[in-house]
Amino acid sequence: MKNQSKVLSVLTLVALGAAGASVAQSSGNSLPKGAIVAGGVFIPPLDAAAGRKLFASKGCVVCHSINGIGGTDAPDLSAANMEKPMDAFDFAAKMWRGAPAMIAMQQDELGAQIEFSGQELANIIAFVHDQTEQKKFSKADIPADILKHVPAN
Ligand code: HEC
Repeated sequence: MKNQSKVLSVLTLVALGAAGASVAQSSGNSLPKGAIVAGGVFIPPLDAAAGRKLFASKGCVVCHSINGIGGTDAPDLSAANMEKPMDAFDFAAKMWRGAPAMIAMQQDELGAQIEFSGQELANIIAFVHDQTEQKKFSKADIPADILKHVPAN
């Protein structure tokens, strides 16, 4: 009986892990809607398709590449390199750690620090973890004013 419940809880963990992985890989439209997860805290909806446009239009692509498109001055953000599932807050914490170098380079290469809202960052985070959406990423997503800053373009 004891062993049985152990097996069950292991199975539950495996099932949860598999569900997490499929959420990370599914397309933007099927990701869960935003939800209030704790008193007063809101997790915005994650829209990977919107994130694909933002990754390009906000200029992340100037330094970071995805599937070979983009700059090589900063770590590659292809979904294949991401932990699955990844805690979205860990991603933000990594950005914070890289912030001094990142902001200095943004000021140098783009003339200003990139601004974004929480919703926009949530969408970008969804995109960098979504292999299906990343397959659709192409130079056509990059506006001309950003494309001119992307090396080798
Ligand atoms: C002008 C260049 C530049 C732009 C634009 C830029 N980054 Fe970065 N980013 C960097 C550099 C350089 C680092 C590495 C900093 C370090 O290691 O100290 C970095 C680090 C990161 C990291 C941490 C990676 C890791 O594995 O630790 C994340 C995540 C990240 N950037 C996300 C973004 C996102 C999202 C955008 C767009 C909103 C963006 N960056 C725009 C240059 C840039």
